[in-house]
Amino acid sequence: LAAQAMNVTVIGTGYVGLGTAGLLAHLGHQVTGIDIAPDKIAQLQRGEVPIHEPGLSDLLAENAERLSWTSDYSSVKEADVIFICVGTPPGPDGAPDLRYVISAASSIAHQLGEQCQVIVNKSTVPIGTGDYVERLLEELAPNFSAAQHLVVSNPEFLREGTALHDSLYPDRIVLGGAAKALETMIQLYAPLLEQNFTPPASTPRPEGYTRPATVKTTLQSAEMIKYAANAFLALKISFANEIAGLCERVGADIEEVTTGIGLDERIGHRFLQAGLGWGGSCFGKDTQGLISAGREHNYAMPILQAAIDINYRQRQVIVEKLLRQLKTLKGKRVSLLGMAFKPNTDDLRDAPAHDLIERLHRLGAHVTAHDPVAMPRAEHEWSHLSYTPARDLDHAFARADAVIIVTEWDDYQHLDWNKLLPTMRRRLIIDARNTIRQPLDHMLQATVKQVGRSAPI
Ligand code: UGA
Repeated sequence: LAAQAMNVTVIGTGYVGLGTAGLLAHLGHQVTGIDIAPDKIAQLQRGEVPIHEPGLSDLLAENAERLSWTSDYSSVKEADVIFICVGTPPGPDGAPDLRYVISAASSIAHQLGEQCQVIVNKSTVPIGTGDYVERLLEELAPNFSAAQHLVVSNPEFLREGTALHDSLYPDRIVLGGAAKALETMIQLYAPLLEQNFTPPASTPRPEGYTRPATVKTTLQSAEMIKYAANAFLALKISFANEIAGLCERVGADIEEVTTGIGLDERIGHRFLQAGLGWGGSCFGKDTQGLISAGREHNYAMPILQAAIDINYRQRQVIVEKLLRQLKTLKGKRVSLLGMAFKPNTDDLRDAPAHDLIERLHRLGAHVTAHDPVAMPRAEHEWSHLSYTPARDLDHAFARADAVIIVTEWDDYQHLDWNKLLPTMRRRLIIDARNTIRQPLDHMLQATVKQVGRSAPI
């Protein structure tokens, strides 16, 4: 456990805030989680977790004695470290909307103590926000002292669906700010840096993992590292999708091509999976965020713009694949398998399924959609869309003219094709994530279309 247990306040109970609170409590610190949404706090106080993230509710339950939840900012007074983990949704021009960061910082300001306190930005914030928060505290905090109240940027690299694994066994911890503040952060993370905590039952330490690297840098560089990392991952995905389109036209196979290029250690295999492109709350927002930062400085970022264009074009590519097979979608029954933007989450933000439902409906199709986890959430968040929620997989396949695999949930990797395919009106599968590995065509007279593969599998 932590060599020196600290008092920590975490503001925001979204993915990042809950993950951070759970992690720090597990490392032995005393953590207060704050959120302005009273319903979320009430849920957490009852021991319920407002988001779907594997292992998270167990982690919070196991460390309940070191965790408390409130809407009241007064715990900030006693905190050694205060984390800002609030959302930064994109504003109308693509630049992140900082209103929640500003309001969290203002609320902190009024509660700062007189002792040394470190204020940590963990939200993905535009470069320069750390400085801005410092100025805001200086202006608003009656107790502010530049030597005692120090702002740090400590970006988060966790992925939804594997948040616990990514927080407990990170590749690197990035810390930007003044040396004195970074020392406090190193103490806070000591058990993580040394990996001398007991892994939670849900998330064992991966074999071969030793410890994270530490990057100590300035506020600006830490903020830039976060954006540049996400932008680079987004680029890799769009690159694979761009090459996939050409593979289809020249008779090459994207899966074999990415295997072939990924063996070059300078390239690597990861994040080269062609398909429907990225969704979620991060890549779209962060690539746009960098472009708008560039625009502010009169600096063009054409690679990022291209990555965005390719990503969203991919959604239309899938519709066109379907159109080529069915000629018209009028009156056709098309079922989507997967609504969440990726497996193991119920997050629907910027999910390709949303665009697909809209486009298919516009073309006259009757759309049915299934998801193992996200359907209740879709009922609220996608009530403006025209689709029928599928009761189960049998319902999704029955009398369908086509089924599109949109999200590569495990449940869809083990489908009982022998049972499901014969119930379709037409045995057409658009595998938009290249998940099907066994040859279906001959076996069950199905037509399977994938991305970047011209030969039938
Ligand atoms: C991403 C980053 O991976 C995290 O490191 C980062 O911390 C996070 O954003 C964030 O900024 O908060 P996340 O959006 O949760 O995490 O999900 P990813 O697993 O990265 O997947 C993003 C999207 O890319 C998904 O829609 C996925 O289907 C797609 N993807 C991913 C591909 O299409 N191909 C790939 O090869 C990999």
